[in-house]
Amino acid sequence: MANLLVLGTQWGDEGKGKIVDLLTPAFEVVARYQGGHNAGHTVWVRGRKIVLHLIPSGILHPGTLCVIGNGLVISPAAFFTETADLEAQGVDASPGRIAVSRGAHLIMPWHPLSERVSEDRRGEKKIGTTCRGIGPAYEDKAARLGVRAGDLADLSVLREKIADNVAAKDPVFRAFGLPALDAEAIFREYAGWAEKLGPYLRDVSELLDERMKRGDRVLFEGAQGALLDLDHGTYPFVTSSSSTAGGAATGLGVGPRTIHGVLGITKAYTTRVGCGPFPTELDNETGRTIGSRGDEFGATTGRARRCGWFDAVAVRYACRVNGVDRIALTKPDVLAGLGDIPVCTGYRYKGRPLKSFPAEPWILKDVVPEYRKLPGWPESLHRAAEPASLPKTFVDYVRVLEDLVETKVAIVSTGVERGETVFFESELRGLVDLAKVRAAASV
Ligand code: GDP
Ligand code: IMO
Ligand code: MG
Repeated sequence: MANLLVLGTQWGDEGKGKIVDLLTPAFEVVARYQGGHNAGHTVWVRGRKIVLHLIPSGILHPGTLCVIGNGLVISPAAFFTETADLEAQGVDASPGRIAVSRGAHLIMPWHPLSERVSEDRRGEKKIGTTCRGIGPAYEDKAARLGVRAGDLADLSVLREKIADNVAAKDPVFRAFGLPALDAEAIFREYAGWAEKLGPYLRDVSELLDERMKRGDRVLFEGAQGALLDLDHGTYPFVTSSSSTAGGAATGLGVGPRTIHGVLGITKAYTTRVGCGPFPTELDNETGRTIGSRGDEFGATTGRARRCGWFDAVAVRYACRVNGVDRIALTKPDVLAGLGDIPVCTGYRYKGRPLKSFPAEPWILKDVVPEYRKLPGWPESLHRAAEPASLPKTFVDYVRVLEDLVETKVAIVSTGVERGETVFFESELRGLVDLAKVRAAASV
């Protein structure tokens, strides 16, 4: 498995950042293919917490090239806040470490402004977005109005595109009583970014091709999760990009055969931030207990994440649409000591069993989940180093999940740190020497 695609199989926040950071030493390149600074990936290294939004979670390993594909939307301000934060923590975030696609679209000042209006206008039906301007930036991309990172290379092109956008948006802004857009001020701001962003800009498709031809291995990194995918998620309660496996090829300009395996990151329970149906949601004390034990607060917006039981119907669907080969199961440690653990094995809709996951929210909101109670494990999982040191009831629970989602678990994450990980037997086991990782952690 030379190149590996890592993505989320639920509604985001599955722990992709931890697993990408853990696996990065086995790859020369980590390439992100969609989303923007709506993402929040928390990585812990020896008790130090680092939160990444736009920059791939491979950045903490010197020598790894981090690539930001054309499938992303980039706020230059957010990008440079993140590089500055990383540099302040001693992490090199220079153009030698990060390549940004010239085809990536820029988030412009009008995007977060119009997003607030559209969320307010939806009222009860709002999406609960991160209000970072992500959706409107992708809207402009599809409307063929977008400003791309590569446009910063020619200031006359940039000036004209900003003028065209301001002219197009002005009537709408006026109608909603928003402040008038000042094309000249916006141009000056982005001309300033042009100078700073210029050294990062590359033809990412060509760069990846060259790297792969020379034998470098690539870890493709997804943000969000399969159920937030624009096409395959619970539309309209989704993000505006292709977070599923297909997005990796279009979001980076690589052929589908460059992806040799897909690792689905799956939380041992379910969380969701923002609005939209959530069949296994626990809007009760148990949900709040899981939330506080799992520290389920958004890394980007600080919002409390909605929590619920593991939903095998949803994860089986995500494994199908992404062609997931193996699962990395995260955060089962949070469930330790909770007693028996219900797992959703099926849905009934209007009294009848459903064959598969309905992505339509108007169906999903009315499904009745069917649960199977699995024996829990009272023991802490944190210190387990090998599958043999995991409690038997927990391993039995993993086997049941594997059957339900029709995909094998290759990695179990038992805590936030790199070393808090157990590899089951699979080809992924050879990627990381956990004994070395643990030894480094105790230095
Ligand atoms: P991402 O968006 O998929 O990268 O996930 P987030 O970083 O937003 O959320 C996952 C949270 O769970 C982070 O705070 C991680 O530090 C934490 N985490 C990851 N894996 C584990 C685990 O196995 N156990 C526990 N207790 N926490 C974990
Ligand atoms: P990571 O990469 C969880 C959710 C928002 C909202 C919907 C649309 O950390 O897993 P947007 O601002 O993208 O238009 O919001 O998508 N959302 C996420 N939820 N984790 C994320 O990223 C998310 N990125 C967006 O809460 O419901
Ligand atoms: Mg997150």
